Amino acid sequence: MNAKAWAVLGCCLLLLIAAECHKKGKPPKSTGKKAAKEPRGGELKPLQAAGRLPAQALPRHQPTAQPPVKAAGPPVLLRVLGPGRFQAVAEALALRAGDTLELRCRGRAVRWSHPAHLEDEERPRLRIKHFEKYSQMQVVNATAADTGQYSCWSFQCLDTRCQDGEDRTGKTFIFFADPQELFIPTENYYEVLQLRANRPTLLPCQVTSPLARVTLHREFPPEEVPVDGVNISYDVQRGFMIHRSQPSYAGSLFCIASLDGVRQISTKYMLIYINYPSSPPKPTVRASATAVQPGESFNVTCTVLGEPEASITFTWAYPRQQLGRPPYVRERAALRRQGGQVRQEAESTLYVDEARAGTQGLYTCQAQTLEGAGSTSTRVRVLPAPAGA
Ligand SMILES: *[C@@H]1O[C@H](CO)[C@@H](O)[C@H](O)[C@H]1NC(C)=O
Ligand SMILES: *[C@@H]1O[C@H](CO)[C@@H](O)[C@H](O)[C@H]1NC(C)=O
Ligand SMILES: *[C@@H]1O[C@H](CO)[C@@H](O)[C@H](O)[C@H]1NC(C)=O
Repeated sequence: MNAKAWAVLGCCLLLLIAAECHKKGKPPKSTGKKAAKEPRGGELKPLQAAGRLPAQALPRHQPTAQPPVKAAGPPVLLRVLGPGRFQAVAEALALRAGDTLELRCRGRAVRWSHPAHLEDEERPRLRIKHFEKYSQMQVVNATAADTGQYSCWSFQCLDTRCQDGEDRTGKTFIFFADPQELFIPTENYYEVLQLRANRPTLLPCQVTSPLARVTLHREFPPEEVPVDGVNISYDVQRGFMIHRSQPSYAGSLFCIASLDGVRQISTKYMLIYINYPSSPPKPTVRASATAVQPGESFNVTCTVLGEPEASITFTWAYPRQQLGRPPYVRERAALRRQGGQVRQEAESTLYVDEARAGTQGLYTCQAQTLEGAGSTSTRVRVLPAPAGA
C-alpha cells in the first residue's frame, strides 16, 4: 500500500477512533460540535493544536465556550531537536533541504504517513523505529521533494479503552526550502487536468517555502490570472484551487514562484473544460418479455448511463396506473468501466405481478437529472387466455 492509501486509511481510522473515544470517555454533549468542526475532504486537523508553546499551554481546537472535556495532554507529535530536546510541532514547519528531520510520536502501535516517494528510494533516507511507548521517524538529507504532510497515529483506542486525556494523532506540514527548487519537483513537464463544470479543480503547484510569492499565469495570451480568493484561491500547502470552473479558464496555465530574487515556473497544466454531463439522460428500457401469458409476472427495466454520483430520478407511466395497485419498483446504481471511463449505470425496475388484459400496453420510463429529462417506452402484450382455460 502506498502512503496516500495509508493516509486515507489513517484518516478513516482516526475518525473511527475519535468517535470511539467520544463514546467511551466523554459526555455525548460535545459530539455534534466536534463533528461540525471536522474539516471536509477527509482531512483531519490535528487534535491538539501545535505551536512553540509549553505543552500545558497548548491551545485546543475546541470552542472556547465549551468546558474542556479533557485536560491538555502532552502533544502526540514532537520534533526531536537533539538528545533529550523536543519541540511540539506547529501546523506547519519550515525547514531547509539538507536538514535531517526527526519526529517522535507517542503511543504504542504507531503508524506514520509521509510523502510516498520516501518509501521506495534506492538509498533509503527514511528510518522508522518503534519503541515501547513511542515511535521515531527520521528523514536524512531532506530534499525539496520531501515537502508535504507528515502524520502519525496509534491504534490504542481500538482494542482497549481509550486512555484519559490522551490525543492519538499528530500532524504537521513540513516545507523543505531549497533555493534551487521553489516548487516541489514533479516528473512531468506538463499535466492534463479536467475542469469539470460541477466540481473544483486543483492546480497542485506546491512550493517548498511558505515565504515564496506564487502567482498564476496563462500561456496564451500571456497574462496573469487574477486570484480573487472566491473563484480561484491559493493555499500554500496545496496550490491553486479553481472553485467555479468556467470555459474561460481552459488552456495552458502555470504558476510562478519568486523568493529572494529567484523566479521559477511550475509544471504546466493543460486545463480542459468538460461540461459533463451536458445533455439530458438517454434512458433505455427493456421488458423481461414482450408478450406474457395471463397470470405470468414480468418486469420492465430502465437504464441510464451517466457520470458517477449523478443523481437520477426515475418515474414510470404504465397501464392501469390510476387504478392503484402500484407495482413494486426497485432502483439500484453500479459503477462500470466503459472504454477507459468509469460510468454510473443506474437502473429502475418495475415488477408487474400476474399479467392480465389490463396490464397490457405501454410502459414508459422517465429519467430526470440536473441536466434535464429523457424518456422512452416499451410495449408489453398479454396473450389471450388459452382456449378452454
Ligand atoms: C547524506 O548526506 C551525506 C553528506 O552528503 C552523505 O555522506 C550520506 O551518505 C547521505 N545519506 C544518505 C542516506 O543519503
Ligand atoms: C467570479 O465568477 C463569476 C461568475 O462565474 C463572475 O461573475 C465574477 O466576476 C468572477 N469574479 C471575479 C473577481 O473574477
Ligand atoms: C426480470 O424478469 C426476468 C424473467 O423473470 C428475470 O430473469 C430477471 O432477473 C428480472 N430482472 C430483474 C432486474 O429482477
